[in-house]
Amino acid sequence: MPVETLLFYGALVVWAGLLAYGLKVSNWRGFSLVGIGLMLVLNLGYFVRGQGDAIAFFVSIYDLLDNAGVSSQGELPAALATCPDNACSIADNYDSHPAWGVAFHERFANGPTLRRSLLFVHIAFNSLAFVLAHVQLAKPGTGTNASRHRILGRVTFGAVTLGTLCAVLLAGEHSSVSAYGGVWSMLGFFTMAFFVYGCAIKTATTARSGDIGAHRVWMFRFLGSMWGAFWLFRVMLFVLGPLMRNIEGGAILVCIWLSAPLGIAIAEWFRTRRPAHENERGRSPALI
Ligand code: HEM
Repeated sequence: MPVETLLFYGALVVWAGLLAYGLKVSNWRGFSLVGIGLMLVLNLGYFVRGQGDAIAFFVSIYDLLDNAGVSSQGELPAALATCPDNACSIADNYDSHPAWGVAFHERFANGPTLRRSLLFVHIAFNSLAFVLAHVQLAKPGTGTNASRHRILGRVTFGAVTLGTLCAVLLAGEHSSVSAYGGVWSMLGFFTMAFFVYGCAIKTATTARSGDIGAHRVWMFRFLGSMWGAFWLFRVMLFVLGPLMRNIEGGAILVCIWLSAPLGIAIAEWFRTRRPAHENERGRSPALI
């Protein structure tokens, strides 16, 4: 395996340790900060190394488990595929890769400029919104922070609007991508956009109407939908890939459809179990 993929696995192990620690002592600061940091490392890669190479790195993370126990002889399972010159992954030790990864690399490594631009804008603005949403929850618009909170809130809403719009346009092409699940992928991404953007709209409208209690509740849900759409999606895909490798598009479809609503459900679980005074202060999970 390439050293950088192994280093990423190491980071994931540390992160899993922080999750266990968070569950034990109800302190999520380390888990949240490492999650934001790893998200930035993955997503900045698209701008630093280019889309083709960033996707090849991303796919290599999934190669180990997706190939585990698969015989190199005979027919490949439906959710595995090969790619020209084995270029879709930096893990040269594997000849087959998750089929969604092969399609993903093919779509963007040499794809049309408009498609590549949409991905850049999607990643840049949704990553920005992801970070800013944490800042907003950590620093509520009380006292002297009111005007900064209002400005950052507008920037966050603008960023998620642009990022989600690009995602919807990209997903509109998926009906012909069978490795993603075809039309079910397109519809699933539309529902994901509905969950994320619906929470963003409710967060904004409750702020505008001055209902600060409801605004905080929706902010938690919005953050949950973003964690779902980004991290839960990718972690679920890691686990489900090897379990559903005989169904074309199976694992990725489960992630596309369930990650955002599951993220909201987990955020709700988390919010309703926090002591009331913590919710009143509106502190971020990153600061607990
Ligand atoms: C509104 C919810 C979201 C939807 C509907 C969505 C949808 C999509 C779509 C359709 C693609 C392109 C796949 C392709 O066309 O081949 C994609 C890729 C990507 N999205 Fe999103 N996305 C959402 C949220 C997010 C968030 C919150 C982030 C960042 C924090 C993010 C970061 C990425 C990245 C980095 C990629 C490239 C693939 C990867 O490296 O994982 N997305 N997304």
